Parts: sequence; C-alpha cells; structure tokens
Amino acid sequence: LGVFTYDPAFFSTSSCTSEITFIDGDAGLLYYRGYPIEQLAEKSDFLEVCYLLLNGELPTAAQKTEFSNNITHHTMVHDQLARFFNGFRRDAHPMAVMVGVVGALSAFYHDSLDINNPQHREISAKRLLAKVPTIAAMTHKYNVGEPFMYPKNKFGFVENLMYMMFATPAEEYVPNPVLVRALERILILHADHEQNASTSTVRLAGSSGANPFACIASGIAALWGPAHGGANEAALKMLEEIGDVSRVPEYVQGVKDKKYKLMGFGHRVYKNMDPRASVMRQTCYEVLKELKLENDKLFGLAMELEKTALKDSYFIDRKLYPNVDFYSGIVLRALGIPINMFTVIFAVARTIGWVSQWNEMIADAEHKIGRPRQLYRGSVRRDFVPIAKR
Ligand code: CMC
Repeated sequence: LGVFTYDPAFFSTSSCTSEITFIDGDAGLLYYRGYPIEQLAEKSDFLEVCYLLLNGELPTAAQKTEFSNNITHHTMVHDQLARFFNGFRRDAHPMAVMVGVVGALSAFYHDSLDINNPQHREISAKRLLAKVPTIAAMTHKYNVGEPFMYPKNKFGFVENLMYMMFATPAEEYVPNPVLVRALERILILHADHEQNASTSTVRLAGSSGANPFACIASGIAALWGPAHGGANEAALKMLEEIGDVSRVPEYVQGVKDKKYKLMGFGHRVYKNMDPRASVMRQTCYEVLKELKLENDKLFGLAMELEKTALKDSYFIDRKLYPNVDFYSGIVLRALGIPINMFTVIFAVARTIGWVSQWNEMIADAEHKIGRPRQLYRGSVRRDFVPIAKR
C-alpha cells in the first residue's frame, strides 16, 4: 500500500492552491494579496486589510465606508448568547470560553448557513469579523468580573475592541491613538499566514461542509497551543520566569541542553527574520516610549535574550530567529491586556484569515473533503482470541 507520500507534520506538502497570502521563508517575505506586510502595517488599517484578504483587492473609498458600516452594524451579539458565559467558571482560560461561545454562534444563524450560497458566505464572514471582537471582550469582562460593555458605533474597529475591554460604566473611556495604532498593527500582522496549523484545521473542517462558525471555532482551538498562537503568552511567561538580565546566559544554556524551548523563537517557514517581528519590534519601541516605559525590565531582558541567541551557533545553525510573538506579548502587556488574553487577541486578528481561506476553498466548485492517509504500523492480520484464552 505504499502509494501515498509519507510527510508527517507536512514539511513538504501543499494542501491547496491559494491566491491570498505569499510567504518566502528563506528571504523573510510576507505578502497579503501581493502587498508587502511592511507597507500594510505602515499605511493601511485593519478593516481595509480584512477587505483585501476577503475580496482580493484594496477597497475604493466608497467600498471601504460601506464595508466598515456593515461591520459596525454586526458587532452586537444576540442577548441569549451572553448567557452562555454563565456556564463557564470565572477562572476558565479565555480561549476555552472563545472555543465554546464562537462555536455557539452557529445556533443563532440558521437563516444563512447554506455554504453554497455566496450571499450566505458573505454575511457569515461579516458576522464573524464583527462579533468575534465583541465575544473576546466579553470573555475578558466575565473573567475579571466586570459588566459587559456593548459596542459603540461611534468607534472604529480597534477603538471599539479597546473600549469593550477596558471601559467601565463608571467612567468615560478615551482611547489613546498611539495605543490604538499599536493594536491595529498587531491585528494586521496576525491577519493571515497561509496554511498554518489553525488555518489548515479550518480548511479541513470546512471541507466536510461544516458551517463557518463551527469551522472558526475549530481554528480557535488549534490556535491555542503554545507552538502556535499560544506562543505570545508562553513567550511573556518565559520572560517573567527569567526575571533578570543576569539570568539570560543560564537560560540560553538550558535551551541548548534541550531542557526547554526559547518561546517566540523559530518558525516552520521562516528560516530568516520573521518580517512581522521587525515591524513588531519597532512598535514595541513606540508604545514603550508613549507610555514612558523605555526602561521596561522585560523589554530590556527580551533585547538581551535576542542579542545572546542571535550570536550563538545553536541558534545560527538551526536558523532560529525571533518570530512576531517574541515582541507582540510585550506590546500587549504594555497596552494593559492580561496575559491570558494574548492568544484571544491573536484569534480576533486571524478570524479574517480563517474566513477568507474557508471562503476561497468553498467558492472553488472542485474542492473535495480533505482526507489524509497514514502509514500503518500496527499489527498484521490476526484472529480474534476469546476472553478466557487471553
Ligand atoms: N528554541 C530552541 N530550539 C528550537 C526552537 C526554539 N524555539 N525551535 C526549534 N528549535 C530546534 C529544535 O529543537 C530542533 O533542533 P534539533 O535539530 O537539534 O532537533 C530544530 O530547532 C528544528 O526544530 P523543529 O522542531 O524541527 O522545527 P519545527 O518547524 O517543527 O517547529 C516551531 C517550529 C515554531 C513549532 C518551533 O520553532 C517552536 O516550537 N518555537 C517556539 C514556539 C513559537 O514561538 N511558536 C510561534 C510561531 S510564530 C506564530 C505562529 O505563526 O503561530
């Protein structure tokens, strides 16, 4: 039965064709629909990038306004959905809550679950893009025991996310534009990354004809792991554990002795600097300066760790460079976002990538259910043994 290629962990398998995201891991390049990530992070905004990923082109001014109004119109969630939260313990990990509540959205939109209808796919995409941030913020509020803050139409997408997370009914909330811009960059940089583990999960789930809300919930579950989206949380916990610059050499030695991995380092595809990491490092400087935290201890520690690793042959030989999540955690922490919400923010950003990839697959009339094979290594044929004789 040796007709199948054995490629565990898919080091050399293209699972699909796609026109959405291009990565050249050796050169350290990342393009969304042909546009370099650096230009989008600098000159665009998150909703424009969402439109681009979903539709293939940047919007005109009129298209942008219409898209943005449409998303704003969908940010509320059904009041019944809010009751789902009460079923969770307050100390549940926010990602556990996200998997459940986002998956539950399927139960609210029976009117638009015909995946072969392009209009149904479009409305589902907009609902997901608009409602996942609302659910993310509710998850945080539930966790810290504060009342839910419903979205406000006067705010843009990112301001609204910050408002829903940080505002309380007690006082006026005025978003700081430098911090809004920093979060906007994080969302742009994480919006899509071709066939990573969570996106492949979404495509595989979607290939069976499952509805988009269920598929995105499967993506959130796959993202949670520390080797993937959970790396931002793991990287910050690692910096806190190291605690002091003086402990960097000792920690790096532990990595080389294979006791643990350097979280926020390495990537399956990038064998050069992750282009998102360069943008994120710059954003780190800007945010810490704005908040007068230039002497932030963890940032200093991260810089020292980066310097030490980049000149060590262990990391050079294995082409291990910092990835985006080495820096995004420092920015998220400076913005006041709790560590257990880091991967949730990643999920908010990646929702558009998942939805765009799912839509691309379903729109292709030729697509088939995904069904990998295996290399069987179990027992050869044998006859059943009655229990008394085992
Ligand atoms: N620290 C120390 N050694 C490492 C690391 C690391 N972070 N990553 C890889 N290595 C070593 C690994 O032990 C192996 O060494 P050897 O050849 O001696 O056995 C070699 O480098 C190759 O590693 P690999 O496990 O074959 O690489 P992979 O492509 O399977 O894994 C990875 C990629 C991202 C899972 C891995 O680098 C890792 O676990 N990094 C830390 C977690 C992390 O930061 N993940 C976020 C990725 S970016 C965000 C996203 O897109 O999700």
